[in-house]
Amino acid sequence: MIRVGIIGLGMMGRCHLAGWEKVENAEVIAVADADPKRAAGDLSGGWGNIDADAKTIDMERVTGTTDPYELIAMENVDVVDICVPTPFHADLAVAALEAGKHVLCEKPLARTAADAARIAAAAAASPGMFMPGMCIRFWPQYKWLKDAVASNAYGAVLGATFRRVASMPPGWFSNAEMSGAAALDLHLHDTDFVQYLLGMPRAVASCGYSKTTDGIDHIVTRYFYDDVPLVVAEGGWCMDDGFGFNMSYTVNFENATADFDFSRGDDPLFLSTGGDKQNITCEGSDGYEGELAYFAECLIAGTPPTMVTAEQAAESIRIVEAEVASIASGAPVDL
Ligand SMILES: NC(=O)c1ccc[n+]([C@@H]2O[C@H](COP(=O)([O-])OP(=O)(O)OC[C@H]3O[C@@H](n4cnc5c(N)ncnc54)[C@H](O)[C@@H]3O)[C@@H](O)[C@H]2O)c1
Repeated sequence: MIRVGIIGLGMMGRCHLAGWEKVENAEVIAVADADPKRAAGDLSGGWGNIDADAKTIDMERVTGTTDPYELIAMENVDVVDICVPTPFHADLAVAALEAGKHVLCEKPLARTAADAARIAAAAAASPGMFMPGMCIRFWPQYKWLKDAVASNAYGAVLGATFRRVASMPPGWFSNAEMSGAAALDLHLHDTDFVQYLLGMPRAVASCGYSKTTDGIDHIVTRYFYDDVPLVVAEGGWCMDDGFGFNMSYTVNFENATADFDFSRGDDPLFLSTGGDKQNITCEGSDGYEGELAYFAECLIAGTPPTMVTAEQAAESIRIVEAEVASIASGAPVDL
C-alpha cells in the first residue's frame, strides 16, 4: 500500500484527496494545513470549480497537523503530495526529497524557474521519485492530441491554437507576487503542453495586460518553431465573474482538424478528416485522476516518471518568464 500525506487542503488538496481514493493500492494517512480547522479534517469553505466531493476527512485513519515539516518527518508516509500556494512549493519539495520521500508537487512547479531548478536538483539527488502535477499532460483529450501528433496519423501540424480563460479565482491568487498572475498560474498549462507536444520553441512573442492583479492577467503568445508555422496560446483569468472557466484547442494537421472545447460537455472533441466530422471519445475522466494513477504505477513498478519531469516543468516556467519579458519589452524573446 502506498501511504500518502497531503500538504495543503484547499481546492487542489481536496481534489487530490478525492483522486487518491480512486487509486488502487494507495491511501491518504496524513494531512497538513496551516489552517487548524482543515488540519482537523473540516474542509468546508474552500473555493473551486472542480467537483471535488471531499468536504470532511475521517480522521480515525488520518493524522492531521498544522506543520507541514511534521508530516514530512512522519516515517510511515511514503509520498508527500504538495498542494499549497505556489511560493511554498520549493522549500517543502526540497525538504521532502531530502527526507527521501516520493514527492508529487502541484503546478506551477515553483514561483520562479530558479526555484524550480532547485527542486529538480533535489529530485536528481534523492532516492525518492518526483513528479510535477502537470495535469493537462494526463487530460484525456490532450493525451489524444499528443498521440495524434507523435504518430503522425494525420500528417504534419500546420497550426495549433490553445485557449484557457477564466473568471478571477479568490484568495491569494490576486497577489501576483505569490501566484505569478494568470501568465504563470493558468496559462502555464498550455505553455507546458506546447513544449510537451512540439519541443522547446526557439523564441516567444507575447502581448497582454493587467486587470485583476499587477501581473499579467491575460496573455496571448506566439511560440516560434522552424517546422510548425503557427503555434499560439491564450490564457487569462480576468473574464467577467459570470464567465466561469473554459479550455479549448484547435489543431490543423495536413489531413485533419482536431477541435476540443471543454464547454461542450460530453462531446468535447471532434475530428474532421476527408470531409467527415466524427466525435472522438477518450478514456478517463480528467487529468487529476490520470496523473495520480500514473504516479502510483511508477512507484509500484519502481520506474521514475517520464511523462513529465522536474526539468521539463522548470523549462515551462522559464518559457513563461520569457513570455512576460516579451510583454515588457514589446519584442520576441529567444529561449
Ligand atoms: N492543477 C490545477 O489545475 C490547479 C488548479 C488550481 C490550483 N492549482 C495549484 O495548486 C496549488 C494550491 O492552490 P489551491 O487552489 O488549492 O489554493 P487554496 O487557497 O484553495 O488552498 C491552499 C491551502 O494551503 C494551505 N496553506 C497555505 N500555506 C501553507 C503552508 N505554508 N503550509 C501548510 N498549508 C498551507 C491553506 O490554508 C489552504 O488550505 C497552487 O500552486 C495552485 O497554482 C492547480
